[in-house]
Amino acid sequence: MADSDRQVALAELEVEVRACTACGLCQERTHAVPGEGDLNSVVLFVGEGPGQDEDQQGRPFVGRSGQLLTKMLRAVEIDRESVYITNIVKCRPPDNRDPLPGEIESCRDFLDRQIVLINPRIIVTLGRFSMQRWLPREKITRIQGKVRNIGRGRCIVPLFHPAAVLRNPNWMLEYQKAFGRLPSLVQRALQANERARRGDALPAGVPHPGDPDYRDPADPLPLTQQTLF
Ligand code: URA
Repeated sequence: MADSDRQVALAELEVEVRACTACGLCQERTHAVPGEGDLNSVVLFVGEGPGQDEDQQGRPFVGRSGQLLTKMLRAVEIDRESVYITNIVKCRPPDNRDPLPGEIESCRDFLDRQIVLINPRIIVTLGRFSMQRWLPREKITRIQGKVRNIGRGRCIVPLFHPAAVLRNPNWMLEYQKAFGRLPSLVQRALQANERARRGDALPAGVPHPGDPDYRDPADPLPLTQQTLF
């Protein structure tokens, strides 16, 4: 898809998010928060859900957690504007409570579509709710900062939620180390995209023979296993 078409599709998605009434969170929101950043970024950050400041401004990670996120990125020389930032749920859960399974499910399609449009090679999850979207059986305290391949030329880097680090300052050193891994991952992702552009590698998002759900196009599923309708 051409860059301009992706831009239009993302803008349409944002309009849909702002008008969404799929779950009860729409009733108390001031603004929905679709996300913001560079559509061409190789990195997508996925937080939990907007807090009070984000609800007021309609932008992700602009409160205390956001200030820490911006500071952590700056420390590893990544510009906040050069990445894309969104959340698992796009509207604020009242009193900053955890998002409910039904609310996460209602928002799932928006995130799926953002991933298709941005096509990131690296998805950085902030906190356990976004980690669980891809790694449902993992514990954030066990795998924070460890890179997990999820196939299709993408990996997950699970990080603590900045709010959790603000509550537990003794996690800061580990947090800094985990952020410190991002620049080299970004470099590798950019190189992989460059190779894909030259035709030497697979673009992100394309099923790879190593993926668990890979199907050889030359060897389709037996007719009995195909969904025909
Ligand atoms: N916490 C989140 O998970 N997301 C935001 O956008 C702000 C705070």
